[in-house]
Amino acid sequence: MKPVLRLLAPFFLCIALVANAQIGGTSSPDQGVASTTGLVVSTSALASDAGASILRKGGNAVDAAVATAFALAVTHPTAGNIGGGGFMIVRRPSGKTAAFDYREKAPLKSTPGMYLDAGGAINRRLTAEGYLAPGVPGTVRGLALAHKKFGKLRWNEVLAPAVQLAEEGFLMSRSLANGLNQQLKGAMGRYPSSVEAYGKPGGGQWAEGDRIVLKDLARSLRAIADDGPDAFYKGWIADRIAEDMQANGGLITRKDLAAYKAKERKVVTGRFRGYEIISMPPPSSGGTALIEMLNILENFDLKKSGRYSAETLHIMVEAMRRAYLDRARHLGDPDFTKIPVARLTSKDYARGLAANILPDRASSSVELGKDIVTAVADDESEETTHFSVLDRDGMAVANTFTLEAGYGSKVVVKGAGFLLNNEMGDFNKKPGETNTGGDIGTSANLIAPGKRMLSSMTPVIVTRNGKLALITGSPGGRTIINTVLCIVLGVTEFGMNGREAVDSARLHHQWLPDNVTFEESSLPEDVSARLKLMGYNIRLQGRQGDGHTIYIDPQSGMAYGVNDRRSADSKASY
Ligand code: GLY
Repeated sequence: MKPVLRLLAPFFLCIALVANAQIGGTSSPDQGVASTTGLVVSTSALASDAGASILRKGGNAVDAAVATAFALAVTHPTAGNIGGGGFMIVRRPSGKTAAFDYREKAPLKSTPGMYLDAGGAINRRLTAEGYLAPGVPGTVRGLALAHKKFGKLRWNEVLAPAVQLAEEGFLMSRSLANGLNQQLKGAMGRYPSSVEAYGKPGGGQWAEGDRIVLKDLARSLRAIADDGPDAFYKGWIADRIAEDMQANGGLITRKDLAAYKAKERKVVTGRFRGYEIISMPPPSSGGTALIEMLNILENFDLKKSGRYSAETLHIMVEAMRRAYLDRARHLGDPDFTKIPVARLTSKDYARGLAANILPDRASSSVELGKDIVTAVADDESEETTHFSVLDRDGMAVANTFTLEAGYGSKVVVKGAGFLLNNEMGDFNKKPGETNTGGDIGTSANLIAPGKRMLSSMTPVIVTRNGKLALITGSPGGRTIINTVLCIVLGVTEFGMNGREAVDSARLHHQWLPDNVTFEESSLPEDVSARLKLMGYNIRLQGRQGDGHTIYIDPQSGMAYGVNDRRSADSKASY
């Protein structure tokens, strides 16, 4: 066993015992849940079960993905949503692919400097919570678009499990009870509609095993199930959103909602060591940056150096540094800005970047990015959720969606029962200022009416010789792309199976601030000492990401659902 895995093994063993108890007899702690009839892997056991019930009814992977997403909006309110946005990658058994962009948009009344105070400083409170923080939600339109294009079962049939969960309620996990108690004492407690929706009836603290019923959310979901997405964008739900916004100084209007369109885009693709990487194009930075990093890394023999050697970690961080710099320089909404995706994802370009990595010395982020760094300063909340789906015919879905921070803006729409996102914080908020603290002020991602904010969400499907190899993704703000890189490299470079790749400790560097973060206890002392000598600022953190994955064994062709055991409520269902 690799040293890092050895260090983490007792931790994962404890969680594995719990996870196995949920799944039943077909799972193996070393591999995941094997199935020949399809899988849904998500952060919420109840949502995975909802998706799997649709597969068992004869639904395909898109039907199951839509069911899982709506169920997550009920059971995982930190990030599952109908008031946010996200991306879905679909690969059909024929090999044809599609990318659905349902990212939120800036309201028509928004302006580039709307989050700056009189002195020109970013007022982070305004993007952290409250009525100015949300972008126009895209989830309902996006899921409907994907379902219209690929779904087999009826829309209301696919939404039925979510409606049932909200109407009849469900038993809370410990983590949900704790999370809600904390929120209600803190930011969510400031908004009466949020307390009404999520407070314990009669008052007091939620406890594990309590039943939570979400009656207003159930009404909204039933309306969407019966009347389609227009109930949300043009019907009474749109009225509730617009009224709430007007009463509380928010910007989203009925016009914004009626105008919102989800888009089908062409996937971004790359090749790495004979594998094909299929992921999300802009307005996500995820696919482009992931492919840029893999292209750089292909110039080095990481396998020979070993997964957790100082040499490998150094090269990985330098690839991250360069790709995140390009993210800051160039990426934003392609409907507003011309983005050089083809160049950034080309092998030639990566060769040039690889050539200026010194063998034993950290580069300087400020020096590399001196064309855009304008100031020295002092970083971002990161809740989102990813799930992976495979059906019995081989249709694959990777879906990542988000409210941005945990519980988004903390604002529940009065009378409609769902949380709104705080995605406006993903725009560049101070035009012209890119600083050492990680704020970016470049033009591609400045706020403009109707524009989508840049995302790091990286749903990805990996194939080899035309056969599925991996479906994965993660939450985690800007850490997402690096979490996905770690999982993809685990399989494609280091020959790990899905379970090993997901369990392996992760690292993150985002160009600025110039720190590299490792998961706690994952870094052997001697490796840490060598990296420090090379000039790295090292930080340790509890956990990085939550990568619910499907791995297909290349020898047997068996699909394994690999829940990320970093999250207690997760499950692979079939
Ligand atoms: N809000 C997280 C992301 O889109 O990257």
